[in-house]
Amino acid sequence: MDKSVVTPSEEDALEVLEDLDTGDDTDLSASDTLSSSYIDLFQNYLFPLLVINGKFRIIYANPQCQKLFTDFSGLEGNQFFDVFGRSFGVEALKEIRETILEGKNGFSWKGYSSLKSREIESLHSRVFIFPLPGANTTEPNHFEVVFDDVTVENKRLLRNVFMSLLEASRLKDNDTGHHISRVSLYSERLARELYERKTYEHIDADFIDSISFLASMHDVGKIGTPDDILNKEGPLSQWEWNVMREHTKNGAYILSTYPNPMAKQIALSHHERWDGTGYPFQLSGDMIPLPARIVSVADVYDALRMERSYKPALDHASSAKQIASEAGTHFDPFLIDVFLSIAEDFEKIYEENKDIGAKNPRD
Ligand SMILES: [Fe+2]
Ligand SMILES: [Fe+2]
Repeated sequence: MDKSVVTPSEEDALEVLEDLDTGDDTDLSASDTLSSSYIDLFQNYLFPLLVINGKFRIIYANPQCQKLFTDFSGLEGNQFFDVFGRSFGVEALKEIRETILEGKNGFSWKGYSSLKSREIESLHSRVFIFPLPGANTTEPNHFEVVFDDVTVENKRLLRNVFMSLLEASRLKDNDTGHHISRVSLYSERLARELYERKTYEHIDADFIDSISFLASMHDVGKIGTPDDILNKEGPLSQWEWNVMREHTKNGAYILSTYPNPMAKQIALSHHERWDGTGYPFQLSGDMIPLPARIVSVADVYDALRMERSYKPALDHASSAKQIASEAGTHFDPFLIDVFLSIAEDFEKIYEENKDIGAKNPRD
C-alpha cells in the first residue's frame, strides 16, 4: 500500500490495518477456488460482488464489480484492505476486522465506503459483508462483499433540493438561466485547466464536478434581497447597495447545510477582491477561497459580455482586456494568466449559450 501521502485520519486507518494479523496470506489455498456453481450464480447477480477468504484476500469479483471499480486497483488476488482500506473509516475497519476474524454479529457487517482518487469522482457504496451461503456457519472461511452503488442516487437527491432553491431565487431575480449555466461552464473550464496543470493538489475530479454545479449557486442569496432593490432601474443609493451586498451572507446561510464547504465559500466570497477591497469581509489574496476566486472571474466575464440596464454589452476581446487589466487588484493574478491562456474557450461558451434578448440586473 502506498503510504507516502496520508492524512491524519488515514494514519489511524493504516494503524488498524497494520494490526490485522492475518497470518501468511500470500498464497491462495486450493479451497479458495470458487466452485463453478457459485460463479454461475454471481455472474448474473444484480449487484457488484466480491468473495474474500478469512484472510481478507479477494478470491473472486463478478463482472459488475470489475466494471464498478474499473478505474481503481485490480481486485482478484489482492488484499481487500489494500484496495478498499482507505474507503472505510477507522471504526468501520475495526468492525470489519472483528466481523471476519471473531464472528461479531454472526459474521455480518453493513456500512458505507467512499472510494476516491484524483482522476475519478468519488464512488459511494452501501456495503454488506456476510458468509458465503452454504458455508460452515460456525466458522465460515469465505465471505460475500456486496456493493450497492449510491453515488448517483445521493448526488441527485442532494442536488435536486438545492436546484429547487435556485429555481426559487430565480423567480425574483432576472438573472437568466443562461447566465447561471455559463458561469458554471467557465468555472468548470478554469478548474479543469488548473487540474491539468497540477497547480493545486486538492483540485481533483470531485473539485471539478462540484464547482460545475455549485458555481450556479453563487447568487442564491438574492432570494433574500427586496424586489424593489434587486430590480431597480438606475443607480442604487448607498443604503440600497448595503442591502444588495447582503446576498453573499444570505447565500452562505442558505447553503450552510450543503455538505461540501465549497458551496458556502462561493456564495460568501465571490465578490471579494484580491486587493482586499471587495465584500462582505474585505478578504485579500489567498485568504479568499479558491473556488470563490474562480467563480469571480467567471461571473465578471459574463457580466461584461451582457447588456445591462446601466451598460452596453462588451465583445470578447474588450471583456478579456478589462479582466486582464484587473489582475492583482480585483482578481488573483495567477488565475488571470490561466484565464488568458484559455480565453477562447470562454468566448466559445458564451457564444454557444447566448441569451435570447434578456436583460440582466446588476450583481
Ligand atoms: Fe453576486
Ligand atoms: Fe452572477
